[in-house]
Amino acid sequence: MRLGILISGRGSNFEAIANNIARRKLDAEIAIVICNRPNAAGLEIARERGIPLRVIASAGMEREAYDKLLIDELRTHEVDLVCLAGFMRLLSADFIRAFPNRVLNIHPSLLPAFAGLDAQRQALEYGVRIAGCTVHFVDEFLDSGPIIVQAAVPVLDGDTVESLAARILAQEHVIYSKAIGYIVEGRVTIQGRRVLIREDE
Ligand code: GRF
Repeated sequence: MRLGILISGRGSNFEAIANNIARRKLDAEIAIVICNRPNAAGLEIARERGIPLRVIASAGMEREAYDKLLIDELRTHEVDLVCLAGFMRLLSADFIRAFPNRVLNIHPSLLPAFAGLDAQRQALEYGVRIAGCTVHFVDEFLDSGPIIVQAAVPVLDGDTVESLAARILAQEHVIYSKAIGYIVEGRVTIQGRRVLIREDE
């Protein structure tokens, strides 16, 4: 399965996926990494590893026009599955239609709680005891779409946003590859909002 990974920043989820592929824990290939911010730290990860990379700057571009560039680039690289990994843009309905049930996102909360920006801060300030992260299919709404895998992370009394975010991130790095693996293995069925994952044979 050929992955297209979309990033905007640090790129640690992209790196974790690349590591799992290199260690043969995940049977997939990164066909292209696309980044919408020319100075993103994640670019260096792709360069160091010789992973195909395109920077397509999005600043000032209209959503539909930008998404058309994305679609063209992903099709050129024959991408089967699009993985948003800290990609800080909402995608148009046209984009979602171009890759039906083939776009994933990771979010640092147990959705549907704390969608949007600063999810870890939202969780801490709300006072939840259990935070976590979610990998889900993407629809045209923010942090919406059927949920594939979640991981729970307890909130500790001494937690700061940073310490909580770091423990959640460690789980993100595990569950993103897990969710991709389920899809690669053809074990996933979507029934309305529910995602069913067949037992491993
Ligand atoms: C992660 O916390 C992810 O859940 C959120 O954005 C952050 C991206 O981090 N969508 P990185 O760029 O993968 O390090």
